[in-house]
Amino acid sequence: MRAKDIRAKAGEEPITMLTAYDAPTAELVDEAGIDMILVGDSVGNVKLGHDSTLPVTVDQMADHTAAVARATDDAMVIADMPFLSIGADEADAIENCGRMLKEADADAVKLECGPHTVDLTRRLTRLGIPVQAHLGLTPQRENETGLFRQGTDPEAARRILDLAREHEAAGAFSLVLEHVPANLAKEVTDALSIPTIGIGAGPDCDGQVLVIDEVTGLSEGTAPFSKAFGDVRSEMQEAISSYAEAVETGEFPAEEHSHYEEEVDDIY
Ligand code: KIV
Repeated sequence: MRAKDIRAKAGEEPITMLTAYDAPTAELVDEAGIDMILVGDSVGNVKLGHDSTLPVTVDQMADHTAAVARATDDAMVIADMPFLSIGADEADAIENCGRMLKEADADAVKLECGPHTVDLTRRLTRLGIPVQAHLGLTPQRENETGLFRQGTDPEAARRILDLAREHEAAGAFSLVLEHVPANLAKEVTDALSIPTIGIGAGPDCDGQVLVIDEVTGLSEGTAPFSKAFGDVRSEMQEAISSYAEAVETGEFPAEEHSHYEEEVDDIY
């Protein structure tokens, strides 16, 4: 799936997007027919044990993106650009984003956006690097904004709408809207021709994205706007306890898990 296919779906059929950070999960997500797989910098909290996304590095994102891309046949693979990998210096930003396509086989990059990413979006798009913009709650700014709802007053809502338009004009192929009022997300969706992908942004976006561990129920809890569609955590807990019990009681390994070679009986 390429940027043009995603654009073509805007307003036609709902677009599905999920995060994945490793090959086995990406394979399942791809087999389920999900349109886009986001290798989110949420890997920092979800998989690497950090309490924010800020420590995630470009190398880590390249490794996780490459693992996901190797296991994906159909979905579009999007690499999330981590904190300070863009925004300080344009040449560095282009190199970091380029690595995701050249080394890690991503199809596009996602940028947490603000006024500073409009020119970069234009430049990357012209260079052949499709850009997914991300507005609303952008967790890399947590020290400035907190991890709260965004766009909740008219001035802030207007800023998001204006930035959405500017990123569309700069060439972004889609826009993630995170934790903004549903009525603002609808306004933005109506104002743009590129698809909006909501997370905590109500039902009127062109598509939806969630974090895979919340969807499967592997994580301990979910964000208030998210939903567990399974209970993988309990399944894993049961499997791990059963394994420990089987080893402790001598039930495992059984005959069928072992092999014997007569010749090795004579080694002493
Ligand atoms: O990093 C991430 O997982 C994200 C999504 C929540 C949109 O940015």
